[in-house]
Amino acid sequence: MREKSPETHEEKLEYLRDLREQAMNSASEEAVEKHHAKGKLTARERIGVLLDPGSFEELDTFIRHRTTDFDMAKRRPWGDAVVTGHGTIDGRKVFVFSQDFTVFGGSLGEVMAEKMCKVMDLAAKVGAPVIGLNDSGGARIQEGVVSLGAYGDVFARNVSSSGVIPQISVIMGPCAGGAVYSPAMTDFIFMVKETSHMFITGPEVIKTVTGEEVEFEELGGAMTHNSKSGVAHFAADDEESCLEDVRYLMSFLPLNNLEQPPVTDMGDDPDREDPDLDTFVPDDPNKPYDMRKVVAKVVDDEDFFEVHEHFAKNIICGFSRLDGHPVGIVGNQPAFKAGVLDIESSEKAARFVRTCDAFNIPIITFTDVPGFMPGTDQEWNGIIRHGAKLLYAYTEATVPKLTVVTRKAYGGAYDVMASKHMLADFNFAWPTAEIAVMGPEGAVNIIYRRDIATSPTPEDRKAKLIADYKAHFANPYAAAERGYIDDVIEPRQTRPKLIKALRTLQTKRVAQPKRKHGNIPL
Ligand code: HXC
Repeated sequence: MREKSPETHEEKLEYLRDLREQAMNSASEEAVEKHHAKGKLTARERIGVLLDPGSFEELDTFIRHRTTDFDMAKRRPWGDAVVTGHGTIDGRKVFVFSQDFTVFGGSLGEVMAEKMCKVMDLAAKVGAPVIGLNDSGGARIQEGVVSLGAYGDVFARNVSSSGVIPQISVIMGPCAGGAVYSPAMTDFIFMVKETSHMFITGPEVIKTVTGEEVEFEELGGAMTHNSKSGVAHFAADDEESCLEDVRYLMSFLPLNNLEQPPVTDMGDDPDREDPDLDTFVPDDPNKPYDMRKVVAKVVDDEDFFEVHEHFAKNIICGFSRLDGHPVGIVGNQPAFKAGVLDIESSEKAARFVRTCDAFNIPIITFTDVPGFMPGTDQEWNGIIRHGAKLLYAYTEATVPKLTVVTRKAYGGAYDVMASKHMLADFNFAWPTAEIAVMGPEGAVNIIYRRDIATSPTPEDRKAKLIADYKAHFANPYAAAERGYIDDVIEPRQTRPKLIKALRTLQTKRVAQPKRKHGNIPL
């Protein structure tokens, strides 16, 4: 900084430019080099990749911390440890904060939180998403309880903006202790393999407390949280592709809950039929097939952006478009655990359904579900309350809800998977659909146990009873007779049928009872 105050206009301009230059380069070259060596971009480089070129408008460049304890008065870098502001993604406005690990390890204190809260407040005021790039050693140790309170201020804004504006968290470094709870309350969490970690307590503390030995990556790396815990929704190989994925996700989301999602013409004919679908479901009801392939054949341009791809693979969730309009897809996945509903898949899909509903994205459900997963493990860990989450989420969702039963819809899972009774708007079934309380084998064993046991030819008798049961129940017509299925359609017509239904539902309105909020089983 200069020794004497600037006096003339030229000096004042030069002073400002110098100051800005200093603020933009507050980290030492050594710190930046160390950061790059880990395969990480700097806070500003990340913003450069995320936003449209030249669109970033920085705020609070000249803010500085006020802490005097622990020699902090000697180090007061301009802008502190976060870069904040707004810009555009594909021309649409977003607010951003990007934590700067090269300054105090990106640790969060009073003024850093003030900067983050300012963009969160602005975003809520104008109705635009907040994208947080997290790379931080957590609460700034030198600021003590003030930094804990500062986190609380961020958490409170996460909650008040929930369901109002999309909030996206990108983990690009450490994210430890209570700091993980801000991302946890946002709509989506992205992680980068090898360089990002989330945990409540690190390996050292774990070893001291429980004796367990574990490395950072295994404890809280991208794949751990994408496949085991389900905390994170996306895992990328590197920071650039991660930020590209964030831009892509944004293309499906409205800027706020009062807006419709953006329409993108993909050039795919809305009347396109796909004859392959007519024979896609195997004749053998126990033979798996990949529901993602069904989705690809139906949606615009085969484009399916999967959410939680590595978690609870027995259900698939993700974004696609139909006739250019974003839709949320939920589908049982017969190719994994026969598409059974269990604790994790129920939670995964319930969360996705609620996210779609909050942001006006219609939900398309592809059903092929043999039922809920039996067993003590599931019962004792609460399949009843976790399964209820999905039932609740589907029922409370007021966006257009369309369902296609491709094969099995058995038992309680028939109800759960956006059935007519759970207030779906249009329910279609393929001729291969089987809608019943349970599968033929199990049903016949229960209701004809004595009959089979006393038969001189039990095997033949059982085969005959199974054939009768199938003729009676293992088809979509009993449900269609009662109007639970609006139409049994030729599979090839699925795309045009869904698009016509969606067009019809564009003006859907649902009256809600007056209440503070429902009480979803958590
Ligand atoms: C102040 C911190 C800091 C912190 C790191 N630094 N964490 N400064 N407060 N929380 C500083 C370091 O002193 C160092 O400063 C610089 O950041 C880089 O840190 P290194 O340790 O050299 O980096 P690295 O080896 O990459 O290790 C990164 C790390 C480690 C794993 C994040 O620094 C670490 O374990 N930090 C503490 C993490 C933690 O336990 N945080 C509290 C979590 S609890 P110099 O000047 O040397 O460059 C929490 C509660 C939130 O956050 C509660 C909300 C309700």
